[in-house]
Amino acid sequence: MGIGNRESKARKGGSSRPRDLKPHARSFTAQSIPDSQFPIPEWWSSYFDAHYLLEYQPIFDLGQDRREVARLIDLLGLPAGSRVLDVPCGQGRHAHLLAEAGFDVDGLDLSRDLLERARARGTGPTLRYTRADMRRLPARWTARFDAVVNLFTSFGFFLLPSDDQRVVAEWTRVLKPGGVLIWHGGNRDGVMRRFLTRDWWLADGDTMVGHERSFDALSGVLSIRSTWRGRKSSGEREHRIRLYSATHLADLLARNGLVVEMAFDGWSDRTLTRKSGEMLLVARKEH
Ligand SMILES: C[S@@+](CC[C@H](N)C(=O)[O-])C[C@H]1O[C@@H](n2cnc3c(N)ncnc32)[C@H](O)[C@@H]1O
Repeated sequence: MGIGNRESKARKGGSSRPRDLKPHARSFTAQSIPDSQFPIPEWWSSYFDAHYLLEYQPIFDLGQDRREVARLIDLLGLPAGSRVLDVPCGQGRHAHLLAEAGFDVDGLDLSRDLLERARARGTGPTLRYTRADMRRLPARWTARFDAVVNLFTSFGFFLLPSDDQRVVAEWTRVLKPGGVLIWHGGNRDGVMRRFLTRDWWLADGDTMVGHERSFDALSGVLSIRSTWRGRKSSGEREHRIRLYSATHLADLLARNGLVVEMAFDGWSDRTLTRKSGEMLLVARKEH
């Protein structure tokens, strides 16, 4: 998800320069960053709703989804009919394109709102959606998949690092021997290099969204306070993500039988560097 490591299109377009923010400026003061001890252990169980879709609306773009799926297909190099799990799949933006490309796809997510959106895009014999917690994938899926994809920083949500490890262990369990994991998301090294404490953009032409970020270097947890002001609604909320460096994540994967074979600078075909804000890792389950 958006963690301040890519510029939003709204900002690139120049329509939401800081001076446009004057009426809302009070919402984005540093004082509104909450006490880091504020308990929001399970923010992920309610955060991914219609408002999440509004907040990230400038990033969600069918053309970009298609480019990302084309890259996934290239990297996977799998024949049509291969089984792919998109976890968590959100509103199905990659899952439905992977199915369209000829794969047999399962998408799993916890959010009722986002799964409803995903199903509305279409389901069928080669595209199914399941509502579940990614720490406990269905028992019947053991050794079922040729590939698992985990995209858009959909990792590091849980309070306990041991829960992140459970997620990885589940990916290993459901992959066939020799199966491939593609992990895409924020790269802690690159995010720290150019840490954006504040960011703002216009969503849906009407709502000003602001993010204020703080980072705890010991736990690696990034806290993000979102504020939105629009004609229809205004509010604020907070979420947290444990950021991983490529080194730390590759180690976690290896301890769970997934060996990283390639590391890229986000969706590009360039090699990952310490400056990359996003990373894409390709790992294989050992035989
Ligand atoms: C940043 S979104 C990304 C979704 C998708 N990969 C994409 O690229 O659009 C993260 C997703 O994780 C899901 N999620 C959060 N906690 C979860 C959990 N415990 N189990 C399963 N899904 C979860 C959310 O509902 C949300 O759809």
